Amino acid sequence: TQQTLDDANCITLTRYFLTEQKKYKEATGELTQLLNSVQTAVKVISSAVRRAGFTQLFGTVGETNVQGEEVKKLDVLSNELFINMLKSSYTTALLISEENETIIEVEPDKKGKYIVAFDPLDGSSNIDCLVSVGSIFTIMKKEDNSIPTVEDALKPGTKVVAAGYALYGSATMMVISVGNGVHGFMLDPSIGEFILIEKDMRVPPKGKIYSINEGYTHMWDDAVKEYISNKKDPAKGSPYNARYIGSMVADVHRTIKYGGIFIYPATSASPKGKLRLLYECIPMAFIMTQAGGLASNGKIPILDIKPTAIHERTPIYLGSKDDVQEVLDVIKKHD
Ligand code: AHG
Ligand code: MN
Ligand code: MN
Ligand code: MN
Repeated sequence: TQQTLDDANCITLTRYFLTEQKKYKEATGELTQLLNSVQTAVKVISSAVRRAGFTQLFGTVGETNVQGEEVKKLDVLSNELFINMLKSSYTTALLISEENETIIEVEPDKKGKYIVAFDPLDGSSNIDCLVSVGSIFTIMKKEDNSIPTVEDALKPGTKVVAAGYALYGSATMMVISVGNGVHGFMLDPSIGEFILIEKDMRVPPKGKIYSINEGYTHMWDDAVKEYISNKKDPAKGSPYNARYIGSMVADVHRTIKYGGIFIYPATSASPKGKLRLLYECIPMAFIMTQAGGLASNGKIPILDIKPTAIHERTPIYLGSKDDVQEVLDVIKKHD
């Protein structure tokens, strides 16, 4: 590639968060150190995802996880990477993973002040057919010096310090917020660095895309049925486009970029929906809210929900504020 002058001053993810950290004189640098360890795990996962076909990393390991899902080989590798990189960052007190039934304790000599909940590989059913997958993480602070317990992780999204995701798509991108806006960093594989390419990402106030798994239509409640049929009815305004990738990270990233709405509702089979509150819905709601969008469980903002269990599920309506408000109005009408 033709190197340009501004490559001589590129803003890497590390540099960006160091600059942010310097704005707070009390900052210890632990958050920057933590984000760096997440970045390293993501770089290795990105490489593993793109080489899975050569390294026998497709397919399953023949086990079922606490979610009742078939565990993929890349689920295991991604999970171990997150756990090892986070523990060895000396910044975490407790870890929660989609792939671990119980809390993951950090050895006392490695302990730091942050609690991290993560989905190490999101959309893993899409790996073998080369459709985009991702990783999702959310960071909270341990409030005191007591022995970490599961209670420390069961905080509402209003207590989130930082959250973000990695999308292993046509390019690998990390989208992160530490509470003042949402910023996008693209991996430049030629130098192995995430480079700031989108500062202050904003979701359009209204879109023209709805994203939901219509295979479950027969199991939706009447409000969801009415809202989705409105989106397809020319008599109700120009119809929306349907886009559903089946990887939350990819569906959410498209929603931030193009606008519209992503819905994983309750169904008669799963009355609390499928997506997990702590390490999928809260981080994505934090990011969406920071980008000017909305994220609700259909009744209250996702960020106001206090989790009662680490693998608790919740329905989620997320995206452009006008689109989410519209479906909430239909839900209210059916109350
Ligand atoms: P994970 O691969 O981490 O278990 O998450 C899969 C989730 C999410 O990525 C996606 O939005 C959803 O499953 C798709 O579920 P359906 O196949 O039921 O639509
Ligand atoms: Mn899973
Ligand atoms: Mn997931
Ligand atoms: Mn997962």
